Amino acid sequence: MYRSHNCGELNASNINTEVTLAGWVQKSRDKGFMNWVDLRDRYGITQLIFDESRTDKTVFELAKTLGREFVIQVKGTVIEREAKNKNIPTGEIEILVSELTILNAALTPPFTIEDETDGGEDIRMKYRYLDIRRNPVKNSLLFRHKVAMEVRKYLSDLDFCEVETPYLIKSTPEGARDFVVPSRMNEGQFYALPQSPQTFKQLLMVGGMDKYFQIVKCFRDEDLRADRQPEFTQIDCEMAFVEQEDILNVFEGLTRHLLKEIKGIEVDKFPRITYDYAMKTYGNDKPDIRFGMEFGELNEFAQHKEFPVFNAAELVVGIAVPGAGNYTRKEIDGLIDWVKRPQVGASGMVYSKCNDDGTFKSSVDKFYDQADLAQWAKITGAKPGDMIFVLSGPANKTRAQLSALRMELATRLGLRKPEEFAPLWVVDFPLLELDEESGRYHAMHHPFTSPKPEDIALLETDPGKVRANAYDMVLNGNEIGGGSIRIHDKATQQLMFKYLGFTEEEAKAQFGFLMDAFQFGAPPHGGLAFGLDRLVAILGGQETIRDFIAFPKNNSGRDVMIDAPAAIDEAQLKELSIKLDL
Ligand code: AMO
Repeated sequence: MYRSHNCGELNASNINTEVTLAGWVQKSRDKGFMNWVDLRDRYGITQLIFDESRTDKTVFELAKTLGREFVIQVKGTVIEREAKNKNIPTGEIEILVSELTILNAALTPPFTIEDETDGGEDIRMKYRYLDIRRNPVKNSLLFRHKVAMEVRKYLSDLDFCEVETPYLIKSTPEGARDFVVPSRMNEGQFYALPQSPQTFKQLLMVGGMDKYFQIVKCFRDEDLRADRQPEFTQIDCEMAFVEQEDILNVFEGLTRHLLKEIKGIEVDKFPRITYDYAMKTYGNDKPDIRFGMEFGELNEFAQHKEFPVFNAAELVVGIAVPGAGNYTRKEIDGLIDWVKRPQVGASGMVYSKCNDDGTFKSSVDKFYDQADLAQWAKITGAKPGDMIFVLSGPANKTRAQLSALRMELATRLGLRKPEEFAPLWVVDFPLLELDEESGRYHAMHHPFTSPKPEDIALLETDPGKVRANAYDMVLNGNEIGGGSIRIHDKATQQLMFKYLGFTEEEAKAQFGFLMDAFQFGAPPHGGLAFGLDRLVAILGGQETIRDFIAFPKNNSGRDVMIDAPAAIDEAQLKELSIKLDL
């Protein structure tokens, strides 16, 4: 038996018990005649004591050779500690060691295994197994497990059945590039790794499974960001015989359950806003509604004077920043530079300071009088002491720029509080999105999403205006889930592929299996998928998903620990009939 207890469970009630513990040496303090060692495992830290006058000489000497991260086993007696540590559960006791076995020596770790480590990101990723020994990473993984268990429990109790779907498949379009796997047995042919199990879960509905879920890996070859990994995990769900309302209710229930069980927070019914409203009010389809700073459209009150920049603009739009009225000239200039950076792309910014006495001082006083500026304040909801920032230009671009500024200011003002949770649904997404480069429409969600019946006629005349039965769940400014009611008949699906620019042959070659299935009694169905990594990170008060993934990839899509991706040898290439031309 390696251990009778773990390193987190002994306390005063165990005094005088003989125990066996095993774990890692966190640190030792050698005072010559007395040597204390902190023994660590996943569950905590227990202090060991080696005392010249009470410990066997060989054991006492051996203890002096222990280095950091050595793996050891000890036998000993639980005794009361003289200097108690109230901060840890084992802080009242220590183990007077009688036997010590070194199970494995260890090299000095390249960074300290402490909550605040001296190791930078790169070195921690290279030695991720050491990083996982640190509390913050270990706790994130335990937290993830807890969330996943609650999800399984909740959905299982509602009769959802977890079904595994294959990883070696054909392309499922979710808007990214596929990762492909060459097939040795089928020369010149490739599998694609699923961007999501979308078509399979629909086929499970045709198969009568009725309620499906899966906590499943998805693979997308796309640019990486803090909230994106090339392989990530979805809580993927699908239901038959449902309307949008049923789906929103079930998964709002799941999210409410998680917030209650995991965070102890009760939330009211989630607000629902339309995509159009979200874009107009927040410039963003995943608004953070923990704070205000809603957009005020100012065209009417900004385009009646001689200010050419505003007069030429499609949209003039502003936000009131609470308490920013006292910003110095330097701070304002800093923000103007910030919005002019290429990542944001504004050409300039106008401001109007709302003085405490109800007057205004703006950067465009030459063109606008106090009555105009009072209108701006009214529309943006500005109060004395606030600052109004105004951008102008093409509507979509300007909204995106102001949204970036809104989020940046909220961060700077400490309004994005990690322990405050504001979930909402964004509904009525457009069905199609115009790709400016190709001039072609593509599916905003995916090609299996159904249009709103009342908008179908617009497909011919104004495709960009067609709304979909599609919805996203947004939490604290992050899209944590999205889904739709699907098309479930062949004719409509065929029509959709046609509008998306597929020829009949292409549609048949890629998705013939799905359209065939629709001919054999496909029930009406719909679903959604949550990003588990994102959900866990946000519930954990963070936005970087990497910290909640055991072995993540870096920003170039590399696993620096195992050094992947890597070249493969000639023989393997040959077997796969692949010729490289590098
Ligand atoms: P969608 O593409 O919106 O929908 O993905 C669902 C959720 O998955 C998360 N997500 C990601 N998380 C980390 N890294 C990524 N690269 C990444 N990409 C997406 C997001 C997102 O909301 N098949 C549909 C769902 C459906 O219609 O039922 C789908 O995959 O949180």
